Amino acid sequence: MQIVAPLENEDYVIQTAEFMSPPRWHIGHTSWFFETVLRAHQPGYKVYSEDYLFYFNSYYEGFGARIERPKRGTKSRPTVKETVAYRNHVDERMLRFLDSLNGVSNSEIVLSLVRLGLEHEMQHQELLVYDIKHLLCDQFDAPIKPAPPSSVKVEGMADIEGGLFWLGYDGGNGGRGSSPTVREGVDESGDKAPHSKNFAFDNEKPAHQVFLQDFAIDRAPVSNGDFLEFINDGGYQNFRWWFSEGWEAVNREQWQAPLYWELHDGQWMIRDFSGLHPAANKAYEPVSHVSFYEASAFAKWTGKRLPTEAEWEKAACLGPDKSARRLFPWGDESPDTAKTNLFENGLWSPAPIGAFPDGQNVYGCHQMIGDVWEWTTSDYVPYPGFKSEFDEYNDKWFVNQKVLRGGSFATPQIHIRSTYRNFFHAHERWMVSGFRCATGL
Ligand SMILES: [Fe+2]
Repeated sequence: MQIVAPLENEDYVIQTAEFMSPPRWHIGHTSWFFETVLRAHQPGYKVYSEDYLFYFNSYYEGFGARIERPKRGTKSRPTVKETVAYRNHVDERMLRFLDSLNGVSNSEIVLSLVRLGLEHEMQHQELLVYDIKHLLCDQFDAPIKPAPPSSVKVEGMADIEGGLFWLGYDGGNGGRGSSPTVREGVDESGDKAPHSKNFAFDNEKPAHQVFLQDFAIDRAPVSNGDFLEFINDGGYQNFRWWFSEGWEAVNREQWQAPLYWELHDGQWMIRDFSGLHPAANKAYEPVSHVSFYEASAFAKWTGKRLPTEAEWEKAACLGPDKSARRLFPWGDESPDTAKTNLFENGLWSPAPIGAFPDGQNVYGCHQMIGDVWEWTTSDYVPYPGFKSEFDEYNDKWFVNQKVLRGGSFATPQIHIRSTYRNFFHAHERWMVSGFRCATGL
């Protein structure tokens, strides 16, 4: 509700593209999710409104008929006021329900659904930022805080030794280079507070061994300045850098630059929440709003490639003794505003490269967590031994999408982990997506 606070009523209801949702829809849908918990587990719970069940369901076949996604912006009812009332009703009933759970036998199952509901809500908070950017961009009065300056120069690539690597979430204990133990919900200190490390989605499990060749990975995300060179070298006009499907997208969509880039009097400008800026003034910030196709074309142009998700995760988790893995690039401590640029920083933008030296890994790779989600070459498929924990949440999307890692400036701190697998289609670019490159050795 704090994110949407600067919106006017008119802003809540329109849909500016098929891939985005009106803000009012997110506000109602996240409460709809909690209402499904009440319907299943609160004896005698009465549905608030059958119409709302239809309008606020996203894609869950198991919860009945729903409005088609592209039509979410074709209805003015429920109104914003009614949606907020629905939200308050569900919140109030959920709090009462949680109070009543003490000592109840199936409370573990219910609490895991509540945690999922909170993680789901955090995913929608991030989507809300993408959608408000598409809807209003610099017309939105975002409470932007100043970005920290770049304090170190970040250059070159880190050489990383291959071999066997434990990929995936092992219960939040960092892995220690040994076989996994699953201890969800409680971290090593017995702390039950909602850290990002004491929860994982089913798609991050089970931890399993993979073999990696030796590889090198960029110490910095690809910057707007780097990407501008690709554009100026005719990158969008030269088929040789592109996958066939990517080249089709370039021609069909008339792409000449990332989303939110505008050409004014022959000069590339970037529009974001703070206004319209010459791309050259943002040259040392990570490029964002590129599709997998654009990231891959850039990588080919530089003679590199994108990393696999296992390479990315190894780089993000490797500790100083190289055999033990850690939870984050900087160690096991939870993310904070000194190490990463996540939603709590309030920048509403990627930060300059080199602005978070405390967040680097042992090889000097910067900003792996926060700023921009990073495309990998990996297909979004189940890990060996995958078991679905929630129907229709992650498992039904295991086809035709690519994995992105690391979170963005719109991701809440307690939501992100090094093992987190985000996924989008190769052509999508309205989310905060960037990349860094890799090579073999
Ligand atoms: Fe959802």
